[in-house]
Amino acid sequence: MGIEEQGGKITAGAPAIAPATGKLGVMVVGLGAVATTMIAGVEAIRRGLAKPIGSLTQMGTIRLGKRTDNTSPLIKDFVPLAKLEDVVFTGWDIFEDNVYESAAHAKVLDEKMLLQLKPYLETIKPLPAVFDQFYVKRLHGTHVKTGKNKRDLADQLRADIQAFKKTVDRVVVIWAASTEIFLQQTAVHQSIEAFEAGLEANDPGIAPSQIYAYAALSEGVPFANGAPNLTVDFPAMVELSKRNAAPICGKDFKTGQTMMKTVLAPAFKARLLGVSGWFSTNILGNRDGEVLDDPQSFKTKEESKLGSLDYIFQPELYPDLYEDIFHKIRINYYPPRGDDKEAWDNIDIFGWLGYPMQIKVNFLCRDSILAAPIALDLVLFLDLAKRTPSLRSIGIQEWLSFYLKSPQSAPGLYPEHDLFIQSMKLKNTLRHIMGADLITHLGLEYYD
Ligand SMILES: NC(=O)c1ccc[n+]([C@@H]2O[C@H](COP(=O)([O-])OP(=O)(O)OC[C@H]3O[C@@H](n4cnc5c(N)ncnc54)[C@H](O)[C@@H]3O)[C@@H](O)[C@H]2O)c1
Repeated sequence: MGIEEQGGKITAGAPAIAPATGKLGVMVVGLGAVATTMIAGVEAIRRGLAKPIGSLTQMGTIRLGKRTDNTSPLIKDFVPLAKLEDVVFTGWDIFEDNVYESAAHAKVLDEKMLLQLKPYLETIKPLPAVFDQFYVKRLHGTHVKTGKNKRDLADQLRADIQAFKKTVDRVVVIWAASTEIFLQQTAVHQSIEAFEAGLEANDPGIAPSQIYAYAALSEGVPFANGAPNLTVDFPAMVELSKRNAAPICGKDFKTGQTMMKTVLAPAFKARLLGVSGWFSTNILGNRDGEVLDDPQSFKTKEESKLGSLDYIFQPELYPDLYEDIFHKIRINYYPPRGDDKEAWDNIDIFGWLGYPMQIKVNFLCRDSILAAPIALDLVLFLDLAKRTPSLRSIGIQEWLSFYLKSPQSAPGLYPEHDLFIQSMKLKNTLRHIMGADLITHLGLEYYD
């Protein structure tokens, strides 16, 4: 091993990762269900009212060395992460509700918990947003910035970030706002110069999420995209991210149905079981569900959810097993359920000699309860990436694909969707940046 451990601290041979001293400022775009559940959750945890369940940065361990070494520190003791006590939140929203009001509206957390946190949550008030209803048809924003063009709006966001920077030591921006309409890359997305000209000319290919991302990256601030929008997944943003040493990752939090898909599909593939059909449907009644009820926003989500199976099954390598999968995804807006999404999957598989079988999955989940720890981990890991010399200037942080439905990867490189490959990739990245041996799971040394 390249490190020595003393009481969980790295004492020798550790590379120069800047320490997480001072305050980490987290600017959340969209103070809705996911964001308020994350913020309220962090405060509840800080006060000892609850545990950070679902958060790898807070509860996860990492094995170092051989299985026989019995060395598995907590991840937060192994890598220098910001402490929850040092995290300070702010954000933008198109409505004026403070975080308490927004959380009460989202109805994810119970009243008893929210009332205990109310004095703190009320202090977090959204900054006016950059919003245009053309990109999110179902919402009518009232708390929005105005400007002479998209460049002016980006400058206003940069001023917000600069002002916040004065009150904290480091900043990360995360998009937890609504899903925008489906957009594809055009010429405006191909270089920083083209993008900046597009901001000036109000190019319709530039959605608000891109304006936030541009503002953050221009300020050298890392940016995570929790929604399926076209936001940082195009050449201009990757270039800007590298140029300003502002790490990026996206897109779309991998929470319920897709998380299950990226666990089950690798199991079928590992056992060479064929799949002829995979039908996935959901009912969801929160504001996200309402936004996704619009066909153009749904299209963005559908594209993000569809990709995983193709990449995992690799039909070009296994045509007999996966060439003719019928893959269908539905999201139905059903208000009575609120944030409690119910998902059904029917999977038609086939085995030895082609004999068919079926698997049914019925996941009664809580959307924001699953998403909140993911958003927190992404923020803390992006801050770590920004302080890590070997990560800060590489642009896309593919090692964070563990958290994402539609993970971004280098041009020409297919993304890894298998949750366990993603988990290994993440942990090996942490070992790598700390100078520890990677774990290959070969294990022959135990039988010498
Ligand atoms: N909860 C999950 O499991 C999950 C999983 C994957 C992705 N997501 C995505 O995360 C996002 C947030 O989900 P949610 O359930 O919190 O939704 P939500 O509707 O409760 O919150 C979104 C918030 O964003 C605000 N908003 C919209 N456009 C904005 C803009 N341009 N600037 C600032 N604020 C803006 C809205 O007013 C709202 O308060 C959605 O895009 C959703 O698709 C959620």
